[in-house]
Amino acid sequence: IEDRFRENYRPQYHFTPPTMWMNDPNGLLYHNGTYHLFYQHYPEDIVWGPMHWGHATSKDLISWEHKPIALYPDELGLIFSGSAVMDIHNTSGLGTKDNPPMVAIFTYHLMEGEKAGRKDFQTQGIAYSLDEGETWKKYSGNPVISNDGNIKDFRDPKVFWDDNTEQWVMTLVAGDHAKFYSSPNLKDWTLMSEFGKNIGAHGGVWECPDLFPLKVEGSDETKWVLIISINPGAPNSGSGTQYFVGDFDGTTFTTNQKEIKWLDYGTDNYAGVTFNGLPDTDRTFIGWMSNWNYARDTPTEAWRSAMTLSRKLTLHKNNTNGFYLKNYPVASIDEYSYNTVEHDTMRSGMSLSSKNYNEQRLDFKIPGNLDDFELNFTNVNKESLKLSYDSSKSQFILDRTDSGITDFETSFGAKPHIAHAIIDDKDDVDFTIIMDTSSIEVFIDGGSTVFTDQIFPTTPFTALTFTSENATIANLKVSKIKRIWK
Ligand code: FRU
Repeated sequence: IEDRFRENYRPQYHFTPPTMWMNDPNGLLYHNGTYHLFYQHYPEDIVWGPMHWGHATSKDLISWEHKPIALYPDELGLIFSGSAVMDIHNTSGLGTKDNPPMVAIFTYHLMEGEKAGRKDFQTQGIAYSLDEGETWKKYSGNPVISNDGNIKDFRDPKVFWDDNTEQWVMTLVAGDHAKFYSSPNLKDWTLMSEFGKNIGAHGGVWECPDLFPLKVEGSDETKWVLIISINPGAPNSGSGTQYFVGDFDGTTFTTNQKEIKWLDYGTDNYAGVTFNGLPDTDRTFIGWMSNWNYARDTPTEAWRSAMTLSRKLTLHKNNTNGFYLKNYPVASIDEYSYNTVEHDTMRSGMSLSSKNYNEQRLDFKIPGNLDDFELNFTNVNKESLKLSYDSSKSQFILDRTDSGITDFETSFGAKPHIAHAIIDDKDDVDFTIIMDTSSIEVFIDGGSTVFTDQIFPTTPFTALTFTSENATIANLKVSKIKRIWK
């Protein structure tokens, strides 16, 4: 094991860069049995800087192998976020029929243009690989979408092949809305439509869009989901991810949705998008486990930030919530869970202890109608991390205000994080809590309500106390999780 993966706060089963800065996941692509994760990376410092695309691969979405940097900045700009596709029919002509290209579609950010006060400093470019993502060449005709409209925020292309219209479709964001383009060959793009100026959350700029179809569970209906990251303006401050459920006719995205929907109520799940190359029934998502409020300030030294666990997205519908997304860790995490200990019913006032809850997973149920409760993780330094439910407001609350080091930035420990509860089955609510050295992910009701939060306890959490007037915890299983860095 390399020592660098044993540093203080280094996550042990979440993806982190080997060293230095990371932000958004990019170019998520499944091909030939391998998952590719590219990411916004600055290899020379632990703060944001000239962006590259880092690269890693996985066979199971949990363990990752670090690869050489895929894309470097060039004279057209830094390499901002984007996506990747397998151009299996070689529509781009960048490969051959027998060896079709893997194509990355990204934003070029021209620093000089921005400094000169121009607005057109962001354009879209492509690059291709003929060896499964090992080495990359930029396309000589870049940019493929110039910025003639002089748009200030014009970025984060997410591309997929639309089977219905037999063309490539790109979703791009432009400040306060999304733009949809089509192309026969990934090189020539035509603007089709726009969405979002007067709908959804607009507390900040729109970033990292993703558009995909999803079947509504338990029905034959298929809807289209549009994910939009927004910074700032998230419900618990800073960066967050909203989504729209509607229809896409090959040209235009429409929705009847009135309310704003959020994928995650923690403050550390941003810029998340889904994999290309998987069946529609396997919609798999990874987010950046940080927040622009404090991403540059978290107390790590060799590297900065991690990705969320890979999560499967499913679409649901009920009378109270209309359409809503669940996001829940991919099934392969179960293969990393071991030494499972099962506990009897946990009643109010009861405590459990463990050497290190930070590298463990808890699965349990609260039977019957959900009532107020508090679950409190504590350590020998009297730090505490609490999950509670307030039935009078139908709210879950994750409180990290006293969870260890929080003073590196003002918003980090300022307030508990609050989620309006979405529960589809009021009798028996199940919970999965997955903690790593510097994160907690809480999945309630299979991912209807989710919190993803970074935490920096000065020593691991070792005790767990449950308090409630009426509720009890049943079927509690506590499992260790295998480390991924070999
Ligand atoms: C989102 C984002 C993207 C941009 C990238 C730059 O976190 O701001 O919009 O492409 O980060 O690193």
